[in-house]
Amino acid sequence: MSSAGPGAREALETRESHRTGCGHTAVVAGVGGWVPPRVVTNHDLSARLDTSDEWIRSRTGIARRHVIARDGATSDLAVEAGRLALKSSGTAEADAVVLATTTPDHPCPATAPEVAHRLGLGGAAAFDVAAVCTGFLYALATGQGLIAAGSAERVLVIGADAFTTLVDPQDRSTAVIFADGAGAVVLRTGDPAGDGALGRVFLGSDGSRSGLIQVPGGGSRQRAKDRSAVGGDCYFRMHGQETFRQAVDRMATASRDAVGSAGWRLRDVDRVVAHQANARILGALADELDVPPGRMLSNIEHVGNTGAASVPLLLHEAHAQGRLEAGNRLLLTAFGGGLAWGATTLVWPRLGH
Ligand code: COA
Repeated sequence: MSSAGPGAREALETRESHRTGCGHTAVVAGVGGWVPPRVVTNHDLSARLDTSDEWIRSRTGIARRHVIARDGATSDLAVEAGRLALKSSGTAEADAVVLATTTPDHPCPATAPEVAHRLGLGGAAAFDVAAVCTGFLYALATGQGLIAAGSAERVLVIGADAFTTLVDPQDRSTAVIFADGAGAVVLRTGDPAGDGALGRVFLGSDGSRSGLIQVPGGGSRQRAKDRSAVGGDCYFRMHGQETFRQAVDRMATASRDAVGSAGWRLRDVDRVVAHQANARILGALADELDVPPGRMLSNIEHVGNTGAASVPLLLHEAHAQGRLEAGNRLLLTAFGGGLAWGATTLVWPRLGH
């Protein structure tokens, strides 16, 4: 563990230079996460798909994943994670709810207002953010912006996805990877020099590669009402190998930017909390950043790729298990469809459970 030491002054100056609007700093004040109870193992998938436990483990690092109930929806996951994050923050209040998801309960309206209502936060600002697996970092930046501008004092930021509802059950290249879950943090106004203060969130996108990860049908381009045209195109499609290369490159670049902006060096980072896309992507990212593998947190083995939930779910789990300690320097990074990517830093604060 290394708490603020060399470079702390630079980090403070950097954080202060990124304050905007009224100049309030967003600080992480609580964390929560939840996965649905139903577990599907690689052996379960092998019984109905031309795949094997050995193939899935060796190519992805996944052994099992959690799958939403047949009558469940994304809001159910988001409410559970949000409730735990509020409890961890020590108060049930928030004046905004930002939900990152690619699997809203309905195409219209957004899911966040229902989540806010079910959490007893009716009346709060509530909206969804769509940035696929990078959604949580985009939502975090949005919450940080609301606080910086003085538009909110406490923001519940949730990442929740029920990707198994979008995946073609017959497509072995995606059905083995994607899963369901939710994670959340509470942001509040706080001290830029204190633990928990978010660094600058570096975000990027490349729409020229939007076809790499796509649900082709069901939107305004290929309309759901024209069922004969949409057919199986309502399922998630992915070009795995190019996605793999892009994921490593984009997360590495964003990570360097975020760490540099915090006034740290990569070797100062105690824990990397990266989107759990694939264990081999995490290994390649560790190599690229020259971070010892032991500093790369991972839970992909038992949750799979949970989309926007991935980063906050891992934060929650690592916090609950004591794998994150107050004072740890964290690098958060994510990548996904869009393409979209992002990274930021924070010093992990002392949080409740
Ligand atoms: N079981 C068995 N074989 C499978 C399989 C599965 N579940 N999925 C694909 N295959 C087969 C392919 O059909 C192909 O067979 P072929 O050679 O006869 O055509 C072979 O395995 C190799 O496919 P390939 O796509 O080259 O495998 P890969 O080593 O690239 O691994 C992924 C595939 C999807 C695991 C890998 O590309 C990946 O993880 N990409 C990144 C995905 C990702 O993280 N997406 C989310 C970003 S947010």
